[in-house]
Amino acid sequence: MKSEEIRKKFLEFFKEKGHAIVPSSSLVPDDPSVLFTTAGMQQFKPYYTGKADPIKDFGSKNATSVQKCVRTSDIDEVGDATHLTFFEMLGNFSFGGYWKKEAIHWGYEFIVEILGINPDRITVSIFEGEKGVPEDKESFEIWHKEIGIPVDKIKKAGRKDNFWGPTGNEGPCGPTTEIYVDGVEVWNIVFNEYYQKSDKSLEKLKVQGIDTGMGFERLTVMLQGVPDVYETDLFHSLISKIRESSGSLETKVVRILADHLRASIFIIADGVRPLNKEAGYVLRRLLRRILVYGIKYDIHADLFTLAVEEISDKFGKSYPEVKNTKEILNVWLEEKSKFEKALANGLKEIENYKEITAKDAFYIYETFGLPFELLEELVPAKIKNINKADFDDEFKKHQEISRAGVEKKFGGHGLLMDTGELKAGSEEEMDKVVRLHTTTHLLQKALRDVLGPEVHQMGSDINAERARFDFSFSRKLTEEELAKIGGIVNEAIEKDLPVYFKEMPQEQAKMAGALAFFKQKYPEIVRVYFIGDEKHPFSVEFCGGPHVDNTLKIGKFKILKQEAVGAGARRIKYTVE
Ligand code: ALA
Repeated sequence: MKSEEIRKKFLEFFKEKGHAIVPSSSLVPDDPSVLFTTAGMQQFKPYYTGKADPIKDFGSKNATSVQKCVRTSDIDEVGDATHLTFFEMLGNFSFGGYWKKEAIHWGYEFIVEILGINPDRITVSIFEGEKGVPEDKESFEIWHKEIGIPVDKIKKAGRKDNFWGPTGNEGPCGPTTEIYVDGVEVWNIVFNEYYQKSDKSLEKLKVQGIDTGMGFERLTVMLQGVPDVYETDLFHSLISKIRESSGSLETKVVRILADHLRASIFIIADGVRPLNKEAGYVLRRLLRRILVYGIKYDIHADLFTLAVEEISDKFGKSYPEVKNTKEILNVWLEEKSKFEKALANGLKEIENYKEITAKDAFYIYETFGLPFELLEELVPAKIKNINKADFDDEFKKHQEISRAGVEKKFGGHGLLMDTGELKAGSEEEMDKVVRLHTTTHLLQKALRDVLGPEVHQMGSDINAERARFDFSFSRKLTEEELAKIGGIVNEAIEKDLPVYFKEMPQEQAKMAGALAFFKQKYPEIVRVYFIGDEKHPFSVEFCGGPHVDNTLKIGKFKILKQEAVGAGARRIKYTVE
């Protein structure tokens, strides 16, 4: 049975049983507490709680769908025979319509009558009960007495296996009964009787509901009699194309590529763009893994372009959004070029390290966009003393710092970067802020050239809307001086000077004439940013980064205003365009 036929049969079966066919919702859910749609019931949450009326919206208390899903919790297992990042889920749902009897009978009927599975292959499970939630005796009776499943083929299990928890912070939930074929779980039937609040306490739902989910790929494996999902018609031609165009790769690598290509194409088609946070970060990881594999395994073909065509052909009928191949390819090409630049810079940077600590790894991630996974692929020897958990700790520390700053200043909105001095809320802002930041180094140098070496940085405060640079100086600058300073900065920008850093002992940095921001305490080994060639640098400063990699990227520098900030200190407000 072709996969397309399975989808169709499922929807038709439940349509006949009085269900409205509802299209898959986007992979990006309305619920902000989850990154992706992970289950069919997600789009129906408001119908279980009575916030929305199913009769009004689709003319029935019962619905059925084939839902696109992305789950990232198992991402490290991708490449084996069963785990997928993107998958589809067949489901039937009821919001105050039918209950256990119909849900179980129809599930069994579909498996046995429609799909033709021999009943001997079937076993089931039910909820065994726990404090506050009784054993599901009703389901047991239905399976045993009405359908005739022998007692020894009805397994009882607890919360871990037979209780569906809410997606996101809170939501409908309840005991489940599961159908197994040859010992493999194929169908999860949830009886939504409760609402779990964010404090984990359960409340009885006003309207009882049914929520079921059957993994489409797993079912297809079973029906097509193949050993794993990659051999089904859902993947077969994509896998062959990857193999044809990339030489002899190990099976696991081919599978990971196929999984990531398919998942990222669907994610892009639903409007997600590569970013350093949330869903965008997941997408970036998927795309960058594809890119890293390209390097690591010396794959010259553009597998993404090839996969876009393939996915569009294979899935366009069920999911028209994947036919938007031009836009999907643009996203890929842009990310690819960003990655190539970041990789070149990142690799140059990595050469400076004998060994990479968790802090370095985070710095490399933040500045060059190379996630820890890439370091594992590219320079395993240099990170042999740290693992992903060390990196994650570092990541968390950073998030906490930035969150504290955010809450004070921005009333709780997320920030991508907050070093105290630099703040950015999005990738676009980050780009601007980094350009403004490199400009402070040029500006400080120009100020010293024009006004004298008594000029020192006293502070700097940069976000995407404005940039301020405070420095020690005791009088107003003349128009002529300002024009000269602006000219020096712009000239340095136009020279397209390289920007890079070295790590060295503090003393050595001072000897090299590195400018320090005197309010700050520096560690023993410091990072020193150079602008211009090493023998005759235009500027040398103690700094943690991040910076652009060459000055031409800054754009045009413009002084907007000068003002006094207390005795002996002045401020320049400036911008870059
Ligand atoms: N919501 C249930 C699941 O995804 C059916 O397994």
